[in-house]
This record gives sequence, C-alpha cells and structure tokens, in this order.
Amino acid sequence: MEVQASAVGVQTKVRIVGPIILLGPPGAGKGTQAKLIAETFGIPQISTGDILRANVAQKTELGLKAKAIMERGDLVPDELVCDMVAVRLQQADCARGFILDGFPRTVRQAEWLDAQLANMRACKKGDLAAQQACAAPVVIRLVVDYNVLLQRITGRRSCPTCGRIYNVYFQPPKVQGICDVEGTALVTRPDDEESVFVERMKAYDKQTLPLVDYYRAKGRLVEVNGEQPVEQVMAQAFSAIENVNRL
Ligand code: AP5
Repeated sequence: MEVQASAVGVQTKVRIVGPIILLGPPGAGKGTQAKLIAETFGIPQISTGDILRANVAQKTELGLKAKAIMERGDLVPDELVCDMVAVRLQQADCARGFILDGFPRTVRQAEWLDAQLANMRACKKGDLAAQQACAAPVVIRLVVDYNVLLQRITGRRSCPTCGRIYNVYFQPPKVQGICDVEGTALVTRPDDEESVFVERMKAYDKQTLPLVDYYRAKGRLVEVNGEQPVEQVMAQAFSAIENVNRL
C-alpha cells in the first residue's frame, strides 16, 4: 500500500476510502472539514451548495430554478438535487470514494442515495475495491449550538478564487478582507444574512434532523462535537473514517 504525505502533514494511505457524509446545520463546519478530508485522503468534496451556487452564477436552467429558493433559505427540490449528484458521482475522481457536504438533506434524498450506491455496487460485481468505493457511507454529524452557529454564519467570509473559508471572529485572514493564499478580496454569501439563517435553521430542523435517526438506526452515525477547534474536530472525523466498518 502506497503512503503519501498529506496537505495537513499526516501520512495517509492511498487506498479506497468510500463515501463519507458530513451532516450538520448551517455553519456546523461541514465545508471546513470536507476540504481537510479531501486534501488528506485525495478524494473529492461534493458540496451540493457549491454546485448550486455555481449554477446560479452561470445562470443555467438549474441555477434559475434554485436562485430564489436558496435566497429565502428553503431547500431545492429533491429531484433536482439528486439528478445533480447522480451526474457528479459518475466522474472518475470518485473512484476511491467521495465526501458529500450538504447532501443528503431529506429522508427522500437519503433513501435515493442508498439505492444509488446499491446500484453502483451491483454494476461493479466481482471488483471488491470498486464496490468498497461505493459502500454504505460513514455519516459524521457535527453538533453545534444555535448561538455559535449564528456567530459563525454572520462572521463567515470566503475566497471567490480558491473557496477557502475564513471567519472574522474565529479564523480571520492575515490581512483583513483578503485571502491569505490568493490575495483576492473575500466575499460574504448572500444567504448568510441573519434573517435567511433563521429560515435555513427551520428547514434544517424540519427536513434534515430526521436523518440523525435514519442513519443511527442503520448504525452508520458518528457524532462529533463541532464546537471544538477545527484541528480537534478534524482528528475525530479522521478517526471515524479510519475505524468505520465498510462491510
Ligand atoms: P450549503 O452551501 O450546503 O449551506 P449549509 O448547509 O447551510 O452549510 P454552510 O455552508 O452554511 O455551513 P458549513 O457547515 O459548510 O460551515 P463552514 O465550514 O462554512 O447550502 C446552501 C443552500 O443550498 C441551502 O440552504 C439550500 O437552499 C441549497 N441546498 C444545498 N444542498 C441541498 C440539498 N441537498 N437539498 C436541497 N437543497 C440544498 O463554517 C462556517 C463558519 O464557521 C466559517 O466561517 C468557518 O471558518 C467557521 N468554522 C468552521 N468550523 C469551525 C470551528 N471548529 N471552530 C470555529 N469556527 C469554525
């Protein structure tokens, strides 16, 4: 088995990682952790929010449908999001596994994903490694208190060039308002207004929280205290990934 030095300075194995789901409310740190896992394990971060925002920016048909829904903090219809994910999972970079950041977000999406992964495994019959890459997912739930989420969301800034995430309160850039790596002016997401955050939280509580029971019942849920410093959350997430039973 080949060993590589990762971007965060740990030795990682070039191996089949399989599907990882990051579950949590707005501001829980899904995007932050997804980027670290992606860099370390060499598997892609699939953020449905990022893909939708790219479609909105490019004014595609999907983007035109999604824009107003996202601006008011509601969820985009399941069919649109599932179709988008189906296309993404076919790409070659998912061959050793992938991180789903912000998907699934409803029980219907989770059931769809289970069926999709089962189909993918069936198509790879006889190839154990390829089957493991689309095995049942490990689900890492980031648990964070409402008031911490609010502060994280209103303080979040991101780099439009490289996607790096900062926070004016917790993780400020070296120079105020400027990306450390790209030198680009940082931007605020339109749905990070407090009034929209409140609506996103309502959608999370009503439509996404039931997934905790869904995955717990399947024995796939690992809960991590997302209020710890990024490095500690990361260490516990990595441990969940290393110790998961993929059978
Ligand atoms: P999406 O983009 O997925 O947003 P979200 O789920 O609301 O999550 P966020 O991106 O706001 O937060 P995060 O958990 O990634 O936190 P982050 O790491 O940035 O979705 C946007 C919209 O798209 C939805 O509202 C919906 O309309 C639509 N959509 C997307 N997927 C969909 C789906 N599957 N179905 C239907 N609709 C869908 O961190 C936040 C801040 O905290 C940052 O500033 C960061 O620096 C800081 N931070 C992170 N970790 C820590 C830490 N440990 N300590 C201190 N600060 C930290």
